[in-house]
Amino acid sequence: MPLPPPSLLLNVIALGPKAAAATRRKATSLTLCRMASTANFAKVWGLKDQSLIKTQGYIDGKWVDAKEGGTILVTSEYPATDEALGSVPEMGLAETKSAIAAAAKAFETWGKTTAKSRHDILMKFYGLMQEHHEDLGKIITLENGKTLTEGKGENAYSSSFIEWYAEEAVRTYGEHIPSPFTNIRNVVIKQPVGVVRKCSSIMTPWNFPSAMITRKLGAALAAGCTTVIKPPPETPFSALALAELSRRAGVPDGVINIVTTQKNVLEVGREMCESKTVKKVSFTGSTAVAKTLYEMSASTLKKVSIEAGGNAPFIVFDDADIDAAVEGAIACKFRGSGQTCVCANRIYVQSSVYADFASRLAEKVSAFKVGNGLDEKTTHGPLIHEKAVSKVKRHVDDAVSRGAQVLVGGQSLPSPGTFYVPTVLADVPAEALLNTEETFGPVAALTKFETEEEVIALANNTDVGLAGYFYSRDVGRVWRVAEALEVGMVGTNTGLISHATIPFGGVKESGLGREGGHGIEEYMNQKLIAFGGI
Ligand code: SIN
Repeated sequence: MPLPPPSLLLNVIALGPKAAAATRRKATSLTLCRMASTANFAKVWGLKDQSLIKTQGYIDGKWVDAKEGGTILVTSEYPATDEALGSVPEMGLAETKSAIAAAAKAFETWGKTTAKSRHDILMKFYGLMQEHHEDLGKIITLENGKTLTEGKGENAYSSSFIEWYAEEAVRTYGEHIPSPFTNIRNVVIKQPVGVVRKCSSIMTPWNFPSAMITRKLGAALAAGCTTVIKPPPETPFSALALAELSRRAGVPDGVINIVTTQKNVLEVGREMCESKTVKKVSFTGSTAVAKTLYEMSASTLKKVSIEAGGNAPFIVFDDADIDAAVEGAIACKFRGSGQTCVCANRIYVQSSVYADFASRLAEKVSAFKVGNGLDEKTTHGPLIHEKAVSKVKRHVDDAVSRGAQVLVGGQSLPSPGTFYVPTVLADVPAEALLNTEETFGPVAALTKFETEEEVIALANNTDVGLAGYFYSRDVGRVWRVAEALEVGMVGTNTGLISHATIPFGGVKESGLGREGGHGIEEYMNQKLIAFGGI
């Protein structure tokens, strides 16, 4: 069975022998963790403002434990060492219902605030994220494993969504539509999804513990919606720190609620999708989980936004600037150690430049330094957990068994930590798992092609379509290929496309709706008011 990409629902469902071993390790460290005080955790975190670390859920403006008292231990099993970071409550259906009720109640006032006052609160929230840049970056690094440069980079990216949506809040203009009748005037206004006692729910992955929340939360708050957020069990602390900063910024009680869960994830997810009170679901994660949530949401026909898996093609044509293409491939493929939905997954290189591109890429990748994200020399951190390492191993072994050549890497590192050495493989056949599934790891899989038609057919031969990239200096080709790729986002002569201002999202089985850009629309309904009797 193919292992899914970042998904907290399937994390619990698909327990294999490795995961079982990890669970046993967790149980041992759970005992140790219970003996440790918060002060011990404070040492591990080493933040300037230790009060950003919250170890409880957040419902109706209060920090709360699970009703049944269970906890989820969050350890650096995921990042580079085996230190315990802390625990958060194992919440379930009861807490989810309380959170939804609190959000619905808060909507009665938040939904009626002016766009200007929401703008002002969001700008304050943005300012606090800037002020606590170092700490928030470090929290991301400690719980996710990415390097501190990437952790701080994510905080900058994450806060940019809050800033962007603050500015969008005041521009949710309506419309006047000329009527065919002399005695009617048609006006369209925009209102937050739901009218009374309603809210939206947000479910996010571990690969961007902060930015995948603010990309949704910023839009929801700016539109006047209230929210229930379910962060992933691997990286709950960034979500909780955001809740704390939102409170300091003046976001009223009940507007943001956070339910932490791991083993109860199915019942929590179901309630977030099936509750009649919830009018909007936004999810980032695997396509498999997205389909389940979409099906659950159908029972109440609610608005759904989904950013699901990708299998991005990265194409290098023979007229490309090869140095730029190598740099672009590195940025695109190895960001977050290959654990992003928009990472290049399949690298197609035209035959006449193939050997040159492969050797330049291999040389650069062999200079990477894997290690603890907090170490300044580290260029690439670990994978999120052992299951992720097993998937990468399976994909590399499969490609090698089908004749691929290992140019760099090709193996995992012994514990502690869950590392896979950044890898470049040449001559990966089209039918290899590396080309047919999303790998979600640090492996550049190179495949040779001859013609533009051939590579477009190869690139589009997948059920998903999130991002696609290509390098070419021929302007005619740039237009042709950009139009032909079946994806929601194309990078031409760049390996990085992500920004708060762009419409981020996919086609085919990569999802529905767009985030960033005009994504505030996903949290609003248009309402026609026809003025008659004029
Ligand atoms: C993702 O991996 O889901 C998001 C990546 C991005 O925002 O660039």
